[in-house]
Amino acid sequence: MRELDQKQTIDLLNSIFECELAGVVRYTHYSLMVTGSYRIPMVDFFKEQASESLLHAQKVGEILTGLEGRPSRKVSSVEDTDKYSVKDFLAQSLAHEAKALGLYKKLFETVSNANSFLEDFARHMINEEETHNLELKQMLCDLNE
Ligand SMILES: [Fe+2]
Repeated sequence: MRELDQKQTIDLLNSIFECELAGVVRYTHYSLMVTGSYRIPMVDFFKEQASESLLHAQKVGEILTGLEGRPSRKVSSVEDTDKYSVKDFLAQSLAHEAKALGLYKKLFETVSNANSFLEDFARHMINEEETHNLELKQMLCDLNE
């Protein structure tokens, strides 16, 4: 096993923490703003995504403080656009999830062969985010027709 790069791990966990908190803002915003014939199922979908982002931020925060890091008080920026269709929201969600997935992959690279607990955590989160990405792509399919 390699030695864990504690500083880089904490920095990455903080970037993920800020990104997941931005997910709470993003998805709550979409759940309030969504209109049209898909509104009713989409409100619930975006609310679930917001809750899940908060849960992810809390999990990441626990690990961060466990490593004696200090959780950031910042939230990654959420772009402000004038696009409000379901398709726009889903496309922006997909971009957000792809960013989160990239950060978890970086975390995995940083901790692999250095700390098996963190490696398992990163792998588990990659699986979850990968699932979100696939789901969003499937949801976007019929909207692209
Ligand atoms: Fe997440």
